[in-house]
Amino acid sequence: MKLIIGNWKMFPSSPKEAKSIFNGIKKGVRGVTHAKVIVCPPALFISTLIAIKAKAKISIGGQNSSFEDEGAHTGETSPRALALIGATHVILGHSERRAMGETNKEVSAKVVAAIRNKLTVVLCVGEKARDEHGAYFNEVAMQLHSSLEGFPKNEFKRLVIAYEPIWAIGAKAKRAATPSDCREMSILIRRELTEYFGKKVAFTIPILYGGSVDDRNAEGFLKEGEADGLLVGRISLDPEKFSTIIHIANNFRKL
Ligand code: 13P
Repeated sequence: MKLIIGNWKMFPSSPKEAKSIFNGIKKGVRGVTHAKVIVCPPALFISTLIAIKAKAKISIGGQNSSFEDEGAHTGETSPRALALIGATHVILGHSERRAMGETNKEVSAKVVAAIRNKLTVVLCVGEKARDEHGAYFNEVAMQLHSSLEGFPKNEFKRLVIAYEPIWAIGAKAKRAATPSDCREMSILIRRELTEYFGKKVAFTIPILYGGSVDDRNAEGFLKEGEADGLLVGRISLDPEKFSTIIHIANNFRKL
């Protein structure tokens, strides 16, 4: 089953709009049986969306959480609180947070805390730029390796990797990566996961692609790119386009 995750980032700014986007996605997931949908809104809206979720098959996740369950950490989000209000997932190590100074060491501590609180971690990795010598492969391997430090191996079912090449993210990105860029990097990520978890487990961990995914290029990443799912930014705020992506993923059951 393909995994489709919407990362709303710091959008929208009004609860009314958040509810309206979410209700649109709720309509979009009707009849979907073979795609798992997770929406990660700003933390302030998590409870609101959980309250209106009703029976819709959408999981709700956070976009960041602390390395501690409680503490004097002004402005941080507790992973325990996230889990207690009903979130099931949390995105960690997103490039936009790494750009604010988050290190691999901090990411790994947050990962461990999230797992301790029974959240599923969507761990983001990705290179800033590509060079002709392929140094970016090492960059991603290193990032993954260090961000997973201390990850309890028996909790592998709570791990999802999202490959997000930084150069392909956001409105200013010149282009999305290609399905073959995605496939190539998945192979490398799978190899790193094999080193850590062993082959059998490594092949069960979903590897998603994220970075300027839209309703036109989604199929290519899932099919030729062999991605196990997608981490969608901007377009996940557009219920119609996001629902199209969800349905594309759902159709893979027929293949
Ligand atoms: P965009 O889809 O807006 O490029 O964002 C990708 C992303 O960062 C998702 O986490």
